[in-house]
This record gives sequence, structure tokens and C-alpha cells, in this order.
Amino acid sequence: MEKFLISGGSSLSGKIRVKGAKNSILPILAASLLTSEKVELKDVPDISDVKVMLNILECLGVKVTRGKGILILEPGSLYTSEIPESLMCEMRSSIFLMGPLLGRLGKVKVSYPGGCDIGPRPIDLHLKGLISMGVKIQEENGCVRAEVKSLKGSDIHLDFPSVGATENIMMAAIYAQGTTQIHNAAKEPEIIDLQNFLNKMGAKVKGAGTDTIKIEGVKNLKDVSYTLIPDRIAAGTLIIAAAITRGELMLENVIPEHLEAVIAKLREAGAEIWEEADVLHVKGGTIKSIQSVRTLPYPGFPTDMQAQTMALLTLAQGTSVITENVFDGRFSLVNELKKLGAVITVQGRSAVIQGVEKLHGAVVKAPDLRAGAALVLAGLAAEGHTIIEEIHHIDRGYESFEETLKKLGANIKRVGAPAVNV
Ligand code: EPZ
Repeated sequence: MEKFLISGGSSLSGKIRVKGAKNSILPILAASLLTSEKVELKDVPDISDVKVMLNILECLGVKVTRGKGILILEPGSLYTSEIPESLMCEMRSSIFLMGPLLGRLGKVKVSYPGGCDIGPRPIDLHLKGLISMGVKIQEENGCVRAEVKSLKGSDIHLDFPSVGATENIMMAAIYAQGTTQIHNAAKEPEIIDLQNFLNKMGAKVKGAGTDTIKIEGVKNLKDVSYTLIPDRIAAGTLIIAAAITRGELMLENVIPEHLEAVIAKLREAGAEIWEEADVLHVKGGTIKSIQSVRTLPYPGFPTDMQAQTMALLTLAQGTSVITENVFDGRFSLVNELKKLGAVITVQGRSAVIQGVEKLHGAVVKAPDLRAGAALVLAGLAAEGHTIIEEIHHIDRGYESFEETLKKLGANIKRVGAPAVNV
């Protein structure tokens, strides 16, 4: 299995361009099934979650042409509505394929996305929304089979502003008869990106980024060429890479308003962050503790930046508290950070982090995508050598993470043989 070998202590410096957003490309790839015409996507990150999603689309009958950062999809006529279980299990968020397949074919079979590294992944809000649009759902031995004669517009109130449920319902509503409204909708920038992509194909969606999204059913969608928004979580991860190594980075292709909550908290932690001619500058200094970081749905502090922030705060002067309000069980990083010398206690949804002078290298395991990235950040700052195992989690959401960091002065390399997909 591949591992990262890190020799800590170098301060990062230099300029790097942030790629397109993972959490935009995945729903947009699903939405591409809604048209039978050509879809061109630009600034696509080369990450394994995209590879898995493209394998699923090819299984459904989509012709995929891959270029450097570019994808051409020709959905044509799909020849199945059943998502292979092996591929579904590789990426639970592919549950939002239900919406487009119901819109296009009137039926879909997916396997239930079981619990994963960051806690249970229920889909009750997805199913409740689809059922209110006339979809018949059958759950049988770990699979969900859904069918509908014709989707009808509905007024849907989400109990929680779920990103995936919002996206699934948006896509199912595109061809529904009449109008659908989603109340208490997720407001993440990636939802706006999905709306813009759909509307560029001829859909009638408005309100993304607010609590209420309105979708008017249309008859069909046309071809499209679309460029993704930058990945705000990849950008936030690099900001922390500068802060934790007391380095200085310039990030290109960043939308600062997507990172307001993150920038505010990292300034509290002592990082200097400023914008100059659409480049975001970050300068690390003495790391200060933060009395409280509470993850919330957008525009609150993003749960996907929680692990990376925890890594930073292990080296702060003083004690910090992080409260995870979005997922149950997103503290798998704690035990790995403790192996590096961090002092953290978990009390329910909160983690209390007592800053230490220094971290020391150790052998650790990436428990999930963002905790894996956080361990890399901690390894960059730790004294001595750190080995990070299970780095396939990191490859799901960061394109050649070690190459990016090496370009900025990090002493990191990938060793070992990649896992062979059996
Ligand atoms: C999306 O996951 C992101 N993934 C996640 O990013 C992100 O952490 C999450 O939104 C929150 O921002 C993609 O966009 C591909 P949710 P999603 O539905 O849609 C509960 C990363 O690291 N819930 O907003 O699965 C759920 O259990 C990944 O890039 C229900 O109870 O998240 C969770 O507690 C990780 N019932 C909360 O809502 C449902 O039907 C938020 O989940 C659906 C969700």
C-alpha cells in the first residue's frame, strides 16, 4: 500500500493555483445524465472520487473522453439504471445519482450508502423529498429501488440543510411537471455551481445560495461547456499548510467570500491573510489558540475544515475547543494526532485541544479524506519523520497532494505500491 514519508520542519513558501471543486464536480457529473447531448467540463481535479464517478457513468452508458483538467461526456441513450454495488460502496455520495436517473429514465437502483469514516450517512431526507414528488421507493437487502411514472413538482421542507439531499431533489425536479420548492435548502457555493450548470443547459432553477430553491420543470436540456468553481476546502487546507509551517503562500484561483468563516478563524489563530489582485496571501506566525470553533452548514465554519484546523491548534499557545455539529463521529483524527504528541480530549461533540510546544514524527493512519490531509499538515510541522498510511483516502479529494506540497518546499514523498483494484 502507498504511504507518505514526511520529514518535518520546512516552512512552505511559493505560489500555487487551486483546482476545481471536488464537491462541485461530483454532483455536476451526476447532473450531466439529465441531457443526451454533449457536456464539456473544465478545471476538473484529477482525484479518485472523479475516477469512480466516471466509472459509474460509463457503466450507465455514457461515453467519457478525458483530457488534462477537461472532461467530455456524451450521455446519449443510457442503457441501464442500476448502479454497480462495488462502485456505489467506493463513494457513498453517489446517492445523488438517483435524482437525474429518475428524471431521465423514471427508475434507479442503488445500494444503500452504509456508514463511513465520518459517521453514519443516512439518506432519509433524500428519499422523503423524492417520495413527495411521486417516487415509489423499495428498500431491499441493502439496496434502494426507486420508480416513478412521471415526477410531479412538490413543496419540500428539509429537516436539515443537507447538501446531497438538496442536490438530489434539485436534479429530480428538472423534468418534473410543475414547480418544486426546496425549503431549508443547503446554501453551499457548490449548490450555486450546480444551479448555474443546470441553467446553462436550459433548466429553470433559482434561489441557490438562499434557504429556498425553486425549480420549474422543463422538457429537455441541451449541450453545455462549463468551468467549475475553485475548491474552497483545498484552498483552506493550503492556508493551514502555510500557518502550521509558519510559511508564506500565494493562492491563485480562490474566491475569498467562499472562505469567510475559515479566514476569520485562521486570523484568530494568528495567520496573516490578505487579498491582492485576486491572489490570496497567507503568512504564518505564532499559532494562537481559538476559544471555540463550531462547525455549521454554510456559511458557518465548514465541517470539511474541522480536521485540518484541529491539526493546527495542537501547536497553539493555549487551549482551544472544536465542536462538530454536522456529522456524528468526525473525530477519528484525534487518536492519530495523539501519536504525534498532541494533547486532545473528546467530550461528546467537542474536542479540547491543549497546545504543545512541538509534535514529533510517528507512524499514523489516515482515517478519512480530511483527517488524512490534516495528518499531512501535522507531519509537515512535526520534528523528525512521519509516515502516513492509508493515503488512498487523501487521493479521493486532493490531486497529487505530495507534488503540490513538494513544489512549496515540503520534504514529502509517496512510497510503496498502489493497491491493485481486485
Ligand atoms: C456533502 O456531503 C459533502 N460531500 C461533504 O464533503 C460535506 O462534509 C457535507 O456535504 C457537509 O457539508 C459532497 O458534496 C460530495 P449532508 P453530504 O447531506 O451531502 C445528515 C468531503 O470531505 N443527513 O449535508 O453527504 C448527515 O448524516 C465530504 O469533501 C441526514 O440525516 O452531507 C450529516 O450529519 C465529506 N439525512 C448531515 O446531514 C439525509 O438524508 C450533513 O450531511 C442526509 C444527510
